[in-house]
Amino acid sequence: MEAITITLNGREVSGRPGMTVLDLARESGVDIPTLCHYPHLEPIGACRICIVEDERSGALMASCVTPIAPGMVINTESPRVQESRKTIIKLMLASHPDSCLVCDKGNRCQLRKVASDMGVGFVDFQRIPQMAVIEEVNPFIERDLSKCILCAKCIRACQELVGEGAIDYLGRGFISKPATLGDLPLENSECTFCGTCVALCPTGAIMEKGRTYTGTTTTTVRTVCSFCGCGCGISLEVKDNRLVRARPDEDNPLNRGTLCVRGSYGYDFVHSPERLTSPMVKRNGNLEAVSWEEALGVVADEFKRIKETHGPNSLAVFGSSKCTNEENYLLQRFARCVLGTNNVDNGSRLYNSASHVGLWETIGCRDTTNSIDGLEQSQLILVVGANPTSSAPLVGYAIKRAVKRKDAKLLLINPQWTKLVSWAHLWLSPRAGTDLALLNGMAKVIIDEELLDKEFIASGVSGFEAFASGLSEYTPEYVGKVTGVPSEEICQAARLFAKANPVSIVYGNGITQYVNGASSVAALANLLMLTGSIGDEGGGMYALQRENNGRGASDMGSLPDFLPGYQSLDDAQAKMNFETRWDCQLPMGVGLTALEMIAGAKEGKVRGMYIVGENPSVSFPHSSLVSQVLESLDFLVVQDMFLTDTAKLANIILPASSFAEKEGTFTNFDGTVQRV
Ligand code: FES
Repeated sequence: MEAITITLNGREVSGRPGMTVLDLARESGVDIPTLCHYPHLEPIGACRICIVEDERSGALMASCVTPIAPGMVINTESPRVQESRKTIIKLMLASHPDSCLVCDKGNRCQLRKVASDMGVGFVDFQRIPQMAVIEEVNPFIERDLSKCILCAKCIRACQELVGEGAIDYLGRGFISKPATLGDLPLENSECTFCGTCVALCPTGAIMEKGRTYTGTTTTTVRTVCSFCGCGCGISLEVKDNRLVRARPDEDNPLNRGTLCVRGSYGYDFVHSPERLTSPMVKRNGNLEAVSWEEALGVVADEFKRIKETHGPNSLAVFGSSKCTNEENYLLQRFARCVLGTNNVDNGSRLYNSASHVGLWETIGCRDTTNSIDGLEQSQLILVVGANPTSSAPLVGYAIKRAVKRKDAKLLLINPQWTKLVSWAHLWLSPRAGTDLALLNGMAKVIIDEELLDKEFIASGVSGFEAFASGLSEYTPEYVGKVTGVPSEEICQAARLFAKANPVSIVYGNGITQYVNGASSVAALANLLMLTGSIGDEGGGMYALQRENNGRGASDMGSLPDFLPGYQSLDDAQAKMNFETRWDCQLPMGVGLTALEMIAGAKEGKVRGMYIVGENPSVSFPHSSLVSQVLESLDFLVVQDMFLTDTAKLANIILPASSFAEKEGTFTNFDGTVQRV
């Protein structure tokens, strides 16, 4: 790629083709004010505050939309440029209310900052006030469009990044404004209250509700959202050691300036008065606050007593898919080296193990194979048993962007209607629990119609003949009867799938939490191998994670059958390596899974448990039975932020830190490890 050289403020600088004057100026350390520009949005040149002068032609041009060209002579600070920028900012201020003193955007207002940087205070233009009713009925967003400067960041964010398109311009000229279809209130529109528009609005036109008048925040902490497996980067704004607001970390390549409603507004729990702040011990059925020394002393004595009386395997540790990698690493090491048992598991057991088995047996991976970016390189995305717009919004955004902006096809398999249905080229709605038959039926159509990638199969797939002959009964007619999906639609789906490359498959709990989840995951991987899509840039398996660190907790060895890094307990060399490193003798044999721990407790084999950041009394099947079993344990320690239903059953409760109060790392569903 040939560099393009221009003269910028008298200095020669070079950039890459496709760069704008603004890009190159910023890369060269030259500051140009902007209002409507945002790195993750297509530039539209709406506000004109970024104008620069081309000294050869004398033209003033918006630098954010002007590509660099060889020989340009650009001046970013000439008197004409400065005068024009001042006029532009005065025009904006002439129709902006004089409410800065009471506007909570305060020092975060970019309009005010740009004006004061230019020395514009007094506006000697005729005032043209915008009249707008403040909209504040919904619980999250307050809109005061009298402060709108028509930069369209909110509209573009909603359309280009989130893919929702809940707002667009309404009206022309002075009455023009961003509005929903029919100018309905946000709560009656398609808006999901993801808060992305709030984060991008440069003025006080769109603000977060309920977090107003907190004064200027003093610290901003870059961290990672803890609500789902996407791993969005967030910036927490802090004042007086209290979390005031969260906004997307625009430098995080995963979420690119977006968040969802939970990531934007779901942080009240951090300062909740109901947080546990002191260890508690249960005496005569009542919980009493005690010191850490006393609580840990009781824990140590009781675990020691049970271990000596009933053996180490009468103890079990249940780690958390919400805790950090480091915490899970320590927990499994504590279980193995201190308690002496492999009875250790984490909360992702209920939804992750199907992927671990199904993917390992087919393609030799245990989790998502490609990066989230790969979704947008796909020609076709198959979403099975998942509702990403709700459970993993970032994945939902990527899917919608792929369909809307890259012409990808979307194939949905889900018994339930989801918001993605309106984006899908084909939606198959099989009877619940019949996905495996449907996927096998699609595989048979691909084989019978010779739509498979023979070269790929010949070069890298073993057992194809046996697989193909095992599908003999899965004719479209038979599968149609089993699943309730018309046989023509099964064929249509198979053809769509086979003719696209690369293909991405996104699946979730609707697949992994069925009894045949591992077989369904394997069937999905088989489809990719039949068509040769595996390993392609942009094609792959995307296993959605319900919690923020389900993948990391398992990677760290918080599992009964694997040491950290999926080193098998049966691998003598791996075991010896860890024994040397940890200076302890590791217990023999595979431990109990989380579900087996409950069964073991019911049978009296497990007598003591340490549960960290999980609430099986609510989240496990047969929850009342689980509660009874946990209550019957000789000794139960629960560590959590709140007095959960499980914590109420504990003999000792230990308070836990939230993600906003500790350090460590989370691993998101696509394997990105990020610092918390
Ligand atoms: Fe360039 Fe608005 S920042 S026109």
